[in-house]
Amino acid sequence: MEHGKGLMQVSASAPGKLVLFGDHAVVHGYPGIVTAVDRRYQVRARHIDAAALQVRTSADRLHEVPFTALGKTQHPDIAYVAAAINQLNAREPLKHGLKLVTSGPTRSLGLGSSSAISVATLAAASRIHDVDLSLDELYSMARTAILDVQGLGSGLDVAAAVYGGTCFLERAGEIPEALSVERLPLIIGYSGSKAGTVNLVKRVAGLRSRHPDLVEAVLGAMGRISIRSRSCMEEGRWRDLGALTDINQGLLEALGVGTGQLAQLVYAARSARAWGAKLSGAGGGDCAFAWADDSIRADVVAGLEAAGGQVADIACNVPGVKVIDETWR
Ligand code: PMV
Repeated sequence: MEHGKGLMQVSASAPGKLVLFGDHAVVHGYPGIVTAVDRRYQVRARHIDAAALQVRTSADRLHEVPFTALGKTQHPDIAYVAAAINQLNAREPLKHGLKLVTSGPTRSLGLGSSSAISVATLAAASRIHDVDLSLDELYSMARTAILDVQGLGSGLDVAAAVYGGTCFLERAGEIPEALSVERLPLIIGYSGSKAGTVNLVKRVAGLRSRHPDLVEAVLGAMGRISIRSRSCMEEGRWRDLGALTDINQGLLEALGVGTGQLAQLVYAARSARAWGAKLSGAGGGDCAFAWADDSIRADVVAGLEAAGGQVADIACNVPGVKVIDETWR
């Protein structure tokens, strides 16, 4: 059968992310490292007879957006999906209406739901419309979609959703490099509260414009930590990596991001002899993580839980976006 002809339904999935190094620094052009995590979001796509996008986000929620309104502000439930379809429509005007059904973990834990949904949307919708996108094109389109909704962001989360594995991003806007790591001996602790990325990124940007010399030095040090951490991870030098992780946590605190609860998780992990620990992401809540091998893992988990963290048993370094199912006529 000819490629794309007779395709009735396509499902794609993309992983979430855990930012390992370079949080905030990547927004300002410094390197960062992210790993893809096994909390996948799915999008199922099929054609409909209307010049519109329909999105079902749950059993009782169906949104409809005429193609002519794709670029306008949308309901927050479908903002990323609509922005992604808007990108696809700009690249190749859609000839058919489209229905999408999104699904995934009900609690995002700050582990990259927006990027995973945007990327899975583009993968499923481009496939059903028979538009061939390379991974690099998908990355660039999903990044633009997220910028359209949020107004800012480095694309580190999109890198994890598209390419999977563990990615080193030298500079926001460039194509990330895949790190050759086999395993990541880390433990993720959820702080119990969700963080708003945009406000914190703006707050750090404000600090940078008031104290450019100081903040640039901190961000530059974070960038160098990403570069050094990369070789530690590739060479399995976990103790060195732990020390760099602790320095990075201190630098994030220096920028005024982080919460008391995240700090408690970090200290609890260190007290349980983790090699190092830091918050992940913007730092208003969400997760912290700690490096620990199997011999101390149980102690670190117990320490994180005693400090009020919810330990999430989530695999890291997992595959990126993929088409998981296709139904033909
Ligand atoms: O989306 P979050 O809160 O996990 O933050 C991602 C990392 C930041 O550097 C703070 C933002 C970005 O776009 O890189």
